[in-house]
Amino acid sequence: MNHFIYRDNELYCENVPVRKITEKIGTPLYIYSHATLKRHFRVFSDAFKGVDRLICFSAKANTSLAVLRLFSNLGGGLDIVSGGELYRGLKAGFSPRKIVYSGVGKRIDEIDYALKTGILMFNIESLEELEVINKRAGLLKKKAPVAIRVNPDVDPKTHPYISTGMKKNKFGINTEFAIMGYRTAMRLANINVVGIDCHIGSQITETGPFMEALSSLKSMIRDLMDYGINIKYLDMGGGLGITYDNEAPPDPVEYANAIKESIGDLKVKLILEPGRVIVGNAGILVTKVLYRKSTDDKEFVIVDAGMNDLVRPTLYKAFHAIKPVVISGEGEMTADIVGPICESGDFMALGRIMPKVGQGELLSVMSAGAYGFVMSSNYCSRLKIPEIMVKDDKFYVARKRQKYEDLTRGEKIPSFL
Ligand code: LLP
Repeated sequence: MNHFIYRDNELYCENVPVRKITEKIGTPLYIYSHATLKRHFRVFSDAFKGVDRLICFSAKANTSLAVLRLFSNLGGGLDIVSGGELYRGLKAGFSPRKIVYSGVGKRIDEIDYALKTGILMFNIESLEELEVINKRAGLLKKKAPVAIRVNPDVDPKTHPYISTGMKKNKFGINTEFAIMGYRTAMRLANINVVGIDCHIGSQITETGPFMEALSSLKSMIRDLMDYGINIKYLDMGGGLGITYDNEAPPDPVEYANAIKESIGDLKVKLILEPGRVIVGNAGILVTKVLYRKSTDDKEFVIVDAGMNDLVRPTLYKAFHAIKPVVISGEGEMTADIVGPICESGDFMALGRIMPKVGQGELLSVMSAGAYGFVMSSNYCSRLKIPEIMVKDDKFYVARKRQKYEDLTRGEKIPSFL
């Protein structure tokens, strides 16, 4: 459930007409609903009631400080993948003891930053990384808390670019090597083995793959016990899918119940790293129709948001519902909804059947709260667009629209030119 609803043929975010926001702030822009974000976080967390757990929101899905602050206020932790995300997380108010750090390519400066900060755990993705973390921890006179990210070789049945737990993917360490990794880790002076981790992919729409991965992790935990290695944290990663079109993913309660049942009386603290399921349907991208044009066999609706603002349709052929902000009720059209960028891949939707819209009308690209703004860029020297948070009948600018000066910040023309 989300708080983007029509009243009298006009789209509202909570109690604010979307049109009103664009009148003040312009287009394109992202809008997030505070009530929806809060509700999604709570529903997800409450689904695991009765289990010792930490919900580490996956920062990569949406790193707006406002969004992060909300989840931190709600008692959440953070899943990070870079020094930059650590910086943002701390700025947003997360306790370092609630931060987990995954990623195949952690740099030394990033490792040092996380060690000095005192994060909850590093999810290690290679044996070489383990050695480097041990060495850096020694130099900094710290003990690094680690989990090994296991690659359980499970097919998550999702887009190949976002499936991460199969043998052919670069992520994690396969089960045999992982056992070896744990035995090595136990011998390393500056490593403290605390957990086990996996993340098999994103936009997963059935519980089966999660259960397969969990069963593999459980059997590893038992094997590790035989070696006297005790696992305190079981990190199941993120990946639960949402409805963009007509997908029917399990709801958080179904997902949580399956995990709870499988875990049984295993004595571990459960960590989850949900991203999309919390923020995906809590945000929209609002864009304006600049022009319409037609060829012999096609209608184009040219809008002011491009692939640099929301790359998901271009990159994954992802479907996002597109709705008029004000419904005028003048029949339907089939059109390609395209952006202003000089690439044919620059589209929000192709061959979409939708209500007829004309120049100047506003469109809402739905389900844009996850992997929307965070994947945006300045391609074609386009300004990054604002992020707005709506709470009840007010809206707040969480990020201003960039200005032309922002485009050249940090640049220097060499003196020989
Ligand atoms: N944990 C780890 C280690 C991850 O790599 C990810 C996502 C998550 C958690 C959160 O997954 P979620 O709950 O959001 O599915 N840009 C793509 C999605 C990439 C996901 C990368 N990893 C998209 O727009 O669909």
